[in-house]
Amino acid sequence: MNTEAVSHEFDLVITNGVCVTAGDVAPYDIAIKDGKIHLLAPSGSLSGADAARIIDAEGAYVTPGGVDCHVHLEEPALFGRGSSSDTYETGTRSAIAGGCTTIVAFAPQNKAEPSLLKALADTHIKARGNSYCDYGFHIMVGNPSEQALSEMKMLVENEGVTSIKIYMTYTALQLRDDQILSVLLKARQTRMLTMIHAENGDVLNWLTDQLESQNLVAPEFHSSSRPPILETEATNRAIALSSLISNTPILLVHVSDPGATLRIRQAQTNGQPIFAETCPQYLFLTRDDLNAPGFEGAKCVCSPPPRDKASQDAIWTGLSNGTFAVLSSDHCPFNYDDAEQGKKTCITAEHPAGRFREIPNGIPGVETRLPLVFSSGRLPLTKFVEVSSTGPAKLYGLYPRKGALLPGVSDADLVVWYPEARRPDTIVSNAMLHHATDYTPYEGRKVANWPRYTVLRGKVVWDRDNGGVLGQKSFGQFVKRGPSSLGRVWETVDEQGEFDVAGL
Ligand code: URP
Ligand code: ZN
Ligand code: ZN
Repeated sequence: MNTEAVSHEFDLVITNGVCVTAGDVAPYDIAIKDGKIHLLAPSGSLSGADAARIIDAEGAYVTPGGVDCHVHLEEPALFGRGSSSDTYETGTRSAIAGGCTTIVAFAPQNKAEPSLLKALADTHIKARGNSYCDYGFHIMVGNPSEQALSEMKMLVENEGVTSIKIYMTYTALQLRDDQILSVLLKARQTRMLTMIHAENGDVLNWLTDQLESQNLVAPEFHSSSRPPILETEATNRAIALSSLISNTPILLVHVSDPGATLRIRQAQTNGQPIFAETCPQYLFLTRDDLNAPGFEGAKCVCSPPPRDKASQDAIWTGLSNGTFAVLSSDHCPFNYDDAEQGKKTCITAEHPAGRFREIPNGIPGVETRLPLVFSSGRLPLTKFVEVSSTGPAKLYGLYPRKGALLPGVSDADLVVWYPEARRPDTIVSNAMLHHATDYTPYEGRKVANWPRYTVLRGKVVWDRDNGGVLGQKSFGQFVKRGPSSLGRVWETVDEQGEFDVAGL
């Protein structure tokens, strides 16, 4: 047998596709070499190319691989009881099956831990060799100790970690306003992007006590304990704190509420560096989903909670008009039928019907994010690519390696969708998904398209019709990130991140 490797001009060619980027929709053939986009050529011109493999896209859309910068994997109980049902292995397997080629997950620092570098090192151990897609980390700051703040410079300069997340709620993570200010000042000086979970934790705890005193503890009351005004207020406060630190850039995560959206839009219009993210749960679910029979509503308990139909429309508008720079999944999975680590940990002898206060907050969605939104028909395709791939890559310092199809520059991360003639009307069911979670909140929903192939650095890692997941858990690489390059993020901040308190 001749075992000599045959060399080809290209490793992979995709012909007859219609390439969609954040700026354009145009027919191109794509040649891939050494894991990079090598060439975009006129459609059909590479159908006879010398390539190790040629995929005929049959006229289908080809988009840059999805970039999902809000993913929780293998985290301990931080949002109440329970712990993540997905590991790096299962969560990233699910990602590629849904067209997502890069995630940024969280390295959580708890309140008892003074170091951020330790949180990062612990998380590297979980992810290394266990990831099907490329990955980076944000640090979740639970304890902004002197040590933690002093380590932020090292995270940026040595570790390729250029963003942190802080919380205005959750007992295990909530920071006081003075702590938020200290974090923002250090973030300004080190050019780190601060993601903020904006809900007023003190007020929602008080409301929860009120509900409990009336024995209103079913999953649906999760929504009553976190009304929209709590998100609007905290969002307004976060913007005020940012403006106090000479307009330090912040990103409001998982925005669900029209009031918060409006406040963000006003700040943006005012020229402030305020960025925002939303998620599919605020586009496709409503508070009625928390009212499902029995305990089923717990499947949709996440924070902020899904709102109403009018709010969904406002969030779609915010995606269309640019208020939201990114659409992430906030994949934060807990098994439903699991009394040890999942949603049912809150079912006890004292509370046989469960107690919403103790339901682990979060839902799975890394695999369904792109198909749901691509299929919705509610966003132009260029906008879809912008918010689900290019925008996150820019915001989190991954661009143009990720989120683009730039020859010689971008990794060959792609999704080939189904062409019109072969479009599968897929009914989402948990059985078809690749996470390790026992449900999806989107069970029974029809989607009009699904990634047919996912390509990561030139390798076909997902072929829906021929083998499904073809990638390997060791193929995903840690990606060091640079500073954010979206819009004017750091434009208004001088090199030293000066903050003139006397000038306030
Ligand atoms: O309910 C949610 N969103 N759980 C995940 C944790 C977070 O705040 O993002
Ligand atoms: Zn959050
Ligand atoms: Zn989250």
